[in-house]
Amino acid sequence: EDAEHNKICQDYNHMITTLPKGNGWRVQHLYNYNGFWLDSSTLKTNILLNTYFKPQPSDIFLASFMKTGTTWFKALMFSTINRHNYTFSNHYLHHQSPQSTFPMIDSEDYPVNDFTHLPTPRLFATHFSPTLLPPCMTSCKFVYVCRDPKDVLISKWIYLSKLRSKDLAPLSLDEAFELFCNGISEYGPYWDHVLSYWKDSLVCPDKILFVTYEDMKKQPLVELRKLATFMGKGFTLEEVERGVVEEIVRLFSFENLSGLEVNRRGVEKFGKLVEVERREFFRKGEIGDWRNYLSEEMKDRIDGVFDEKLKGSGLVR
Ligand code: A3P
Repeated sequence: EDAEHNKICQDYNHMITTLPKGNGWRVQHLYNYNGFWLDSSTLKTNILLNTYFKPQPSDIFLASFMKTGTTWFKALMFSTINRHNYTFSNHYLHHQSPQSTFPMIDSEDYPVNDFTHLPTPRLFATHFSPTLLPPCMTSCKFVYVCRDPKDVLISKWIYLSKLRSKDLAPLSLDEAFELFCNGISEYGPYWDHVLSYWKDSLVCPDKILFVTYEDMKKQPLVELRKLATFMGKGFTLEEVERGVVEEIVRLFSFENLSGLEVNRRGVEKFGKLVEVERREFFRKGEIGDWRNYLSEEMKDRIDGVFDEKLKGSGLVR
């Protein structure tokens, strides 16, 4: 196994020198790997993941682009699947961060972590597009969360600016905007990310549930019931009447989740290199905060880019 691991690392060291480079938001460079922009350590993990990660057909993945509501959906999915294991008055998520609920496969240590100890169905999160995941994962279920690109841009720019290496000049909003419209940001282009999951969801609707951040905000009871049914854990009539769906929605609303002591202090580790203060995962939690940052011209440009890219897909911005 060691020899195999060393060989993969060697191949990676060579391959990375051959890939197109672009500007990173957190680190200096991103590399275009099979159509998507990744930083070097995420790229290496992707290659190791493709070799060592062994999916099971019962696995359920939360797939999302960065800043589309991953933290929130982790809390919703975990608490829905495990609703018989915790009471709402003293819930696991009162004391632990949503990040800790299930592994983010993009930043795990392979082959050390094998996840064989996790209960079924295993839950995982990823920001990788399906084209960067092992082909056998098509037998698993995916919940894909998508969000207005303008809010994603602002949320991502603010978040990654805080994590940006101090050796680099700050990334201005104008620069981030330009890069985003050209598809260049961690895990981007955003439109290709959305489109790849969207197209797969049309082919396999029972395997991929396409959800939007906005719908979950506007009609959480409807969306959470859909999510539960998709995961094979639909709420019973009795649970609905008892207000279980309302309780989960209320517990993990932005106000509640962001107000919990556990989410206001401490850091979360992603892999060996990245540490993020937990409170950075909770900023405003609103639809349309982009209005406080983008001019009318910028709005038209970004909407135009996405309309053009999504044209004919059946997916409306
Ligand atoms: P904003 O920066 O627009 O506030 P991710 O978890 O994928 O990194 O996404 C982070 C975004 O989700 C941030 O958006 C954050 O505030 C928002 N968020 C976090 N918890 C939320 C919740 N419970 N409800 C709604 N939005 C939430």
